[in-house]
Amino acid sequence: MSAYRGLPLTNFFKKEFPLTGSEKHLTHVFDSFRYRTLQVEITTACNLDCTICLRRKLERPNRSLSLSDFKRILDPGLFRYVGLHGWGEPLLNRHIFEMIEHARSKGVITNLTTNGTLLADRIDEILDSGPDEIAFGIYDPDLLSNVLPDIEDFVGERNKRSLKFPKVYFDITLYQENRDRVPDLIRLASDMGIEAVIIHRLFNLYGVDSEVECLSAEDEKDLFKEIKKVARFLKIKLYLPEKHSYPCLIIKRSIFVTVDGKVTPCTYLPEEHLGDALQESVKGILKSRRYGDFVRKMKRHPVCGKCRW
Ligand SMILES: C[S@@+](CC[C@H](N)C(=O)[O-])C[C@H]1O[C@@H](n2cnc3c(N)ncnc32)[C@H](O)[C@@H]1O
Ligand code: SF4
Repeated sequence: MSAYRGLPLTNFFKKEFPLTGSEKHLTHVFDSFRYRTLQVEITTACNLDCTICLRRKLERPNRSLSLSDFKRILDPGLFRYVGLHGWGEPLLNRHIFEMIEHARSKGVITNLTTNGTLLADRIDEILDSGPDEIAFGIYDPDLLSNVLPDIEDFVGERNKRSLKFPKVYFDITLYQENRDRVPDLIRLASDMGIEAVIIHRLFNLYGVDSEVECLSAEDEKDLFKEIKKVARFLKIKLYLPEKHSYPCLIIKRSIFVTVDGKVTPCTYLPEEHLGDALQESVKGILKSRRYGDFVRKMKRHPVCGKCRW
């Protein structure tokens, strides 16, 4: 998922979160945090059933977030960047354009990641609502061919209107079977006038798809070396996964809110509930002992301890 780059906000946390005496145990947590991105799951409904997708395991009813709940969750004093997607297809939420407009009116940068299948009829609405970024999720390059003409039309219409935004990205989930096709996807993105390619690793700790495997560290290194050259030659931006650390970059930069308003540390921990964003502020939850304890202990967490995303 692409919403983790966020914006650098040096010392933002220190200013925004002056710790009281009883909260000093959190100092080390917030000292190292310079970013805050909200990733909000605006729907659990989807029109595809991708084999790698965690949505398959979650078995939740299809639900969409209401506009009023979205407004309640988004705290513009805290968040500078919002990713409007979780385990579902965001364009299935009929309020998505109002959500983008609302976030923009509050000065919050907006990103949406979509499978692109519903793009054709929504090009005008997307451009009119004015997201800053749109990323097309790709895990099977063959499936991409179905939506390529629509992505081309989208980029064409944006350019015809002389709009600088949204920036358009390919968001590629990398694993062994699609590895050899990544260099060509970067060439394709460049040919289509797409601004950047984001590569993220497959997350398969829950065994969502037993048929697919992540790349070995060595193979990944070779591929990254090759595609960096391709991207440099074509002058297209390439975002590669960063080195894993504790707390990981996702924790340092972002927080996830599910369609039910549950606050969790990461999209890959959708059931690790740390609070309810419809009952209390996300800011308050981030200052809670529960959140601080999660961060301190995450190295020993059964999922985080094994994660290399
Ligand atoms: C969960 S989808 C939601 C947005 C939209 N439905 C889509 O497919 O782009 C967002 C991104 O996550 C990727 N993704 C899905 N399952 C994943 C997994 N197990 N590990 C890593 N990325 C995954 C998708 O390929 C897509 O790039
Ligand atoms: S990856 Fe996206 S399109 Fe595919 S099933 Fe998951 S939410 Fe739907």
